[in-house]
Amino acid sequence: MVLATDALAEANCDRIGSSESPGLIRWLRRARIRYKSIPHPFHNFRSMPLRTQLMATTRIAGLLQNAQPDSNVTVKGWVRTRRDSKNGFSFVELNDGSCLKNLQIVVDATVPGYEESIKQVNTGASVAISGVVHESPGKGQRIEIHATALDVIGTADPASYPLQKKGHSFEFLRDIAHLRPRTNSIGAVSRVRNCISASIHNFFQSRNFLYINTPIITTSDCEGAGELFQVTTLDLQRLAQLQTSIDWNQDFFGKPASLTVSGQLEAEVFATSVGDCYTFGPTFRAENSNTTRHLAEFWMVEPEMPFYELNDNMDLAESFIKTIINDALEQCPDDMEFFNQRIDKTVLATLENIRDSQFIRLSYTEAVELLRTSGQSFDYAVDWGVDLQSEHERFLTEQHFQQPVILYDYPRAIKPFYMRCNDDEKTVRAMDVLVPRVGEIIGGSQREERLEVLLSRIEECGMNPDDYRWYSDLRRYGTVPHSGFGLGLERAVQLVTGMTNIRDVIPFPRTPGHAEF
Ligand code: 4AD
Ligand code: MG
Repeated sequence: MVLATDALAEANCDRIGSSESPGLIRWLRRARIRYKSIPHPFHNFRSMPLRTQLMATTRIAGLLQNAQPDSNVTVKGWVRTRRDSKNGFSFVELNDGSCLKNLQIVVDATVPGYEESIKQVNTGASVAISGVVHESPGKGQRIEIHATALDVIGTADPASYPLQKKGHSFEFLRDIAHLRPRTNSIGAVSRVRNCISASIHNFFQSRNFLYINTPIITTSDCEGAGELFQVTTLDLQRLAQLQTSIDWNQDFFGKPASLTVSGQLEAEVFATSVGDCYTFGPTFRAENSNTTRHLAEFWMVEPEMPFYELNDNMDLAESFIKTIINDALEQCPDDMEFFNQRIDKTVLATLENIRDSQFIRLSYTEAVELLRTSGQSFDYAVDWGVDLQSEHERFLTEQHFQQPVILYDYPRAIKPFYMRCNDDEKTVRAMDVLVPRVGEIIGGSQREERLEVLLSRIEECGMNPDDYRWYSDLRRYGTVPHSGFGLGLERAVQLVTGMTNIRDVIPFPRTPGHAEF
């Protein structure tokens, strides 16, 4: 810390030195001395046992792959289990979150303080252990550690620690979302979710898309569905007492504002100026759906591309999904094997099929016809003009085609104002990508680039054209055909892991009535 600050001060001195500012240099030198007297941010560090301080910590994932017998290592993590043998030694299974597998550590009576410390090595306790790598005689692990030093960093009372060796239901784990990442399944989900996020950035960065941060607070409703979480600094309690109508001029932004339902409209601004781009951030929808596929707060990645028509958009979406799947299979083999064994025995086969197959492309009209003549009975009747339900989408992708399906050209009455109108005056250039087990994973469209058509669609949808002046300017000045789509990150994680409930693939789910943690 002190070194870094010194280097910073030095660098600043260099830069400032050339602009002849001796006063400032003196000030920086004094500041440097002041910085030096600031205590180390981890001031408890000095009270930690010397052994722990000196040896660099190795993450278990790397150790299990690369450690050579006889090397000395220090590992730190949380105890999963401890077994005591009658012969005066103990087996400790340690996990540090870097991988699914635990590290087996043999601790015997030669370890200083063994008798005292080992009693505290309970499930959930945090420990630092130094020792020597040995080839393991046991099944299922290549190596084990023979401990030479053991420090219990934080104890966990077995009488109250909620995670015990037996399996727990996902419902139970949702109530202890602050501890559930310590379980095999949520740990694996967290690593795969991280892999997918990195894969998303890599996919677009490698194609020279610009990453754009679009606003979280907005005054427009992109999807026009009215599922907005309002953002206000007005005193609602007082307003309720006064029983007057609301004067929005008194509110923070001078008009009603809300959390964004999509970054698309702002992404279009950048697509039509800097070119291919994507936004990737949290998205909020106040829809009261208690389903296994809906959250009130979820993460969405939205690419937007100038000069793309609908077919180009479909091509990009298809190779995007295949890349995400391929990266997860290649980069998280142990976690994926775990999902296949413990969560859904078909997940690997399903993913390999999606990665290797060509997506079916079918118009909405063809899909309705297919559903109506399928002989299948549905809870919701299918008729041209209705929005398809999850049961219809899943029938198409899971049963009928058994591979991903891209449906396109939806009725304009059920789709938002920004989608490009087809010449039939009944449909718009929308596309939804449907995948087995999840249903809709991507929604997108070619955008309406003709000013007059856009303005009449805004009015047709009961919206105020003045509120979308900036958006229609993109059509007033140098308009181009363009397209984009949105992928829900959590639905992608569901697809890849086989997890049934969307609440178990986001660290802290927000759903109607739930915003704990
Ligand atoms: O189909 P949607 O509503 O499309 C849009 O928001 C467009 N503005 C995207 C664009 O063209 N840039 O949402 C896109 C995706 C869905 O396909 C789904 O994967 C996910 O976002 N999604 C949700 N995920 C979890 N919970 C919810 N409540 C979701 N609503 C949509
Ligand atoms: Mg949609």
